[in-house]
Amino acid sequence: MLAKEKRDGTFSPDPNAPPMILTRPVLLSCMLAIPASAVDFKKDIQPILEKNCYECHSEAKKKRKGGFVFDDLETFKLDIADNDVAQIRPGKPAESHFLEVIVNRDHDRHMPPDDQLSSGDIRKLTDWIKEGATFDGTVAKTAATVEGMPKKALPPIMSWTNLEGKTIKAGFVRLDGENVVLRMPANAQEVAYPLAKLSEASQKLARDCAAP
Ligand code: HEC
Repeated sequence: MLAKEKRDGTFSPDPNAPPMILTRPVLLSCMLAIPASAVDFKKDIQPILEKNCYECHSEAKKKRKGGFVFDDLETFKLDIADNDVAQIRPGKPAESHFLEVIVNRDHDRHMPPDDQLSSGDIRKLTDWIKEGATFDGTVAKTAATVEGMPKKALPPIMSWTNLEGKTIKAGFVRLDGENVVLRMPANAQEVAYPLAKLSEASQKLARDCAAP
């Protein structure tokens, strides 16, 4: 998509292609093979989120748009895990939805909604995820380990749909009688929800999660 093949077999930039502001710097840094200077969450990443995201995603400001907060790290952690539903997949920027909504201007839920991060900021976020998306340089304690619970008992954030068709994002904790106990990502509170009020697929999901 970035280049069109000409008749003589050479490649030339496609004049209709979007400007390559994002791809070029990333490419360059790969080619130069500079040893990855580890990205520091507090120094490099937090300021970007604070400036561009806390307005709508902050526990301190009680703004939890879409159920996401990025200033409360215990909560933010719940969105970081290597599975299909986590917003951030450590080591896999290309599979991290968090990055997708930032990079892709055409995404329905492009973030920030009326703004665009600089390519420098995007590169820092990309590198941070590539390096494992940790808060302190050590291996991230993701939702799976933070409670000291067996991995299987605490799958990360998933989507749950009720009979009215409303979807929430929460982590499965356990089945409790006729209820499913979910952990809300915004405040890490556990909430019991009647299984019977969930869609069939979500009930099945809960039973699958609870299965030994
Ligand atoms: C002006 C308010 C606002 C700002 C600023 C903002 N967001 Fe959001 N964000 C929202 C809203 C509203 C939603 C829920 C959108 C929806 O579900 O349709 C959301 C949802 C999201 C989602 C989930 C997207 C999805 O597909 O479900 C992510 C990830 C996200 N924001 C990340 C960010 C990041 C990272 C930043 C900063 C770079 C940011 N947001 C800045 C309002 C904002």
